[in-house]
Amino acid sequence: MISLQHLVKTYGTFTAVDDVSLDVAAGEIHGFLGPNGAGKTTTLRMIAGLLKPTSGRIIVNNHDLATEAEAAKASLGFIPDRPFIYEKLTAGEFLRFHAGLYGIDGIGVGDRVHEMLELFELGRWENELVEAFSHGMKQRLVMSAAFLHRPQSVVVDEPMVGLDPRGARLIKDVFRRMSQKGVAILMSTHTLEVAHEMCDRISIILKGRIIARGTVDELRALSGGGDAHLTEVFLKLTGGSGLQEIDEVI
Ligand SMILES: Nc1ncnc2c1ncn2[C@@H]1O[C@H](COP(=O)(O)OP(=O)(O)OP(=O)(O)O)[C@@H](O)[C@H]1O
Ligand SMILES: [Mg+2]
Repeated sequence: MISLQHLVKTYGTFTAVDDVSLDVAAGEIHGFLGPNGAGKTTTLRMIAGLLKPTSGRIIVNNHDLATEAEAAKASLGFIPDRPFIYEKLTAGEFLRFHAGLYGIDGIGVGDRVHEMLELFELGRWENELVEAFSHGMKQRLVMSAAFLHRPQSVVVDEPMVGLDPRGARLIKDVFRRMSQKGVAILMSTHTLEVAHEMCDRISIILKGRIIARGTVDELRALSGGGDAHLTEVFLKLTGGSGLQEIDEVI
């Protein structure tokens, strides 16, 4: 589970994340939606322990990130929006290196590495250098690393960017299976079809503040009812379709 309580991040006088509270239960896939610059990545990086909150609490799998950072991080998988991978490692080496970071480099790690590479359809690339990988393959490798240590919660920043339809389907299936096993997943995305299809609940963030939360139907009701596409609901809740502005300019 992930619990954010009154989370704030300021840069000088600018507040990037403004009093965000959010709970993701075990087994839940929670969508984190919002326009560019709304504060999604900043929030997710704080959960991953890469950015220090200005104030507020972060609880990951019952561990307070401020006081039990190691236990919290050991139980979390983080998939950043722009992952860094050592290009001179092979896929297998990268995963074994990652396993070492999480202290799971003992007996059985080889099997676990194979299992994850197979799951993400990278099995035959185990001994190839990462520098030869396509964008989508790197993306899948980073995901296999994030799930390697069997985290109870996973935070993922825009997982679908640049994946081909097969890759996107694979990732959706993996996330769904992980959530069925009780993993809590918090996922930012701009792909509203993905959010609609996968997320149990969605939180919408605008200028650092959560402005709406619920199932797709609950969000529809908040935005005036009907059976509107999630894109319309999102645009209504975050302040207009933009078409009027376009008309004025044209
Ligand atoms: N180090 C920093 N210093 C100052 N401002 C920052 C810093 N990092 C982020 N910001 C600002 O915080 C705000 C939130 O950025 P963030 O990256 O969290 O947005 P986002 O919701 O992930 O957007 P996108 O959809 O484009 O990925 C932006 O206005 C950004 O410019
Ligand atoms: Mg972002």
